[in-house]
Amino acid sequence: MSVEPDPDVVAGLDLWQQMAVPQQPQWPDADELAGVRTRLASLPPLVFAGEADALRAMLGAAGRGEAFVLQGGDCAETFAEATADNIRNKIKVILQMAVVLTYGASMPVVKIGRMAGQYAKPRSSDSETRDGVTLPAFRGDIINGYEFEESVRRPNPQRLLDAYHTSASTLNLIRAFTTGGFASLLRVHEWNKGFTANPAYARYEEIAAEIDRAIRFMAACGADVEALRTVDFYSSHEGLLLDYERPLTRIDSRTGLPYDCSAHFLWIGERTRQVDGAHMDYFARVHNPLGVKLGPTVTGDEALRVLDRLNPTGEPGRVTFITRMGAGKVRDLLPAVVEKVAADGRPVTWICDPMHGNTITANGYKTRRFSDVMDEVAGFFEVHRALGTIPGGLHVELTGDDVTEVLGGTEEIDEAGLALRYETTVDPRLNHQQGLEMAFQVAELLRAH
Ligand code: PEP
Ligand code: CO
Repeated sequence: MSVEPDPDVVAGLDLWQQMAVPQQPQWPDADELAGVRTRLASLPPLVFAGEADALRAMLGAAGRGEAFVLQGGDCAETFAEATADNIRNKIKVILQMAVVLTYGASMPVVKIGRMAGQYAKPRSSDSETRDGVTLPAFRGDIINGYEFEESVRRPNPQRLLDAYHTSASTLNLIRAFTTGGFASLLRVHEWNKGFTANPAYARYEEIAAEIDRAIRFMAACGADVEALRTVDFYSSHEGLLLDYERPLTRIDSRTGLPYDCSAHFLWIGERTRQVDGAHMDYFARVHNPLGVKLGPTVTGDEALRVLDRLNPTGEPGRVTFITRMGAGKVRDLLPAVVEKVAADGRPVTWICDPMHGNTITANGYKTRRFSDVMDEVAGFFEVHRALGTIPGGLHVELTGDDVTEVLGGTEEIDEAGLALRYETTVDPRLNHQQGLEMAFQVAELLRAH
């Protein structure tokens, strides 16, 4: 039996269109955009509302300290990079990290990719000038192309359809990999053994050996480790481009409620989280689990007003606060915000984005230091542990490839080394080894508790 939606609820989904919406492109042709939106609205949803509900429950568990979240992927996906190899490598590093974290936390790890839809980027300026030529800023493949050419930078609504189809094929491969045997625990564990066999990473061998013993223990007890072949893997992206999110929002026939079926989890970025803003208005109306980035300027009162908008009734798992304060600030700024929210009592899940508060420029490249990234993670754990609240997970920008975009790590990528393989179009990502190192170090932090 299907439940009919309340007409006011459906009408509410378009109220944002009467508001000023930050960080949207200037579409040159309104009719073309309208045609694309109609087409998108007729295409099948990319995810099922029931899956979003399952993720909400898992995020609620992470908020109570019964699970740990690992959300990772590109800063900006590109259409050209949506290849089998790239998707496989990214899933592989997330699964490898998840096994290590599962052991460290002795808890289920909730795996969420910044994948299959992470195509829209907020920018500090609407335009970019090079050699006296001014063109629209690159806002992500869903809007325009990166190449500095008038025809490429002009916002093109057809790209919304390309984004949909590329997301669909990415998600299809994710589903195949995570249910078809590729993700089996034994296989992922073999990959991790390969990593720690490299003498450079010997310091992680102890944990790897413990995981090995744990798996053999499980097998000896009669657990069917061979059967651990499938994992739940969720998709997420920044809910930024409302001309894309609106047509992919669908009424769930089970409940009559709207869900944004472009992804399981959507987050509101640091630049669009105004409490009275259009993004807050829109996402308050959909029933997915939501993230909200909280940067160094946020106050505890603001965080409470976000909860008033997005989770007035205090549903567990509905709101995840993704804090990104910067390594030098997290210990000073995070406590007041966490204390205020904890005193309120409505549940939230706290996860740490150690990337976006730690971006620097070196040798002409936008980069980050691995040591700063790890320092923010350590600070996040310290703050929560001192307050008795729960450090519930990590949000990271990574790739499965051997890029050289973040400084440091055991391989000591230095400023000159950045030039070797710097491929990101937006923010620098941890490479495969740096991602794994982070997981081993965070496993130590989780275990130390
Ligand atoms: C991002 O996650 O890529 C991003 C733009 O983050 P923030 O909104 O926190 O700056
Ligand atoms: Co980024």
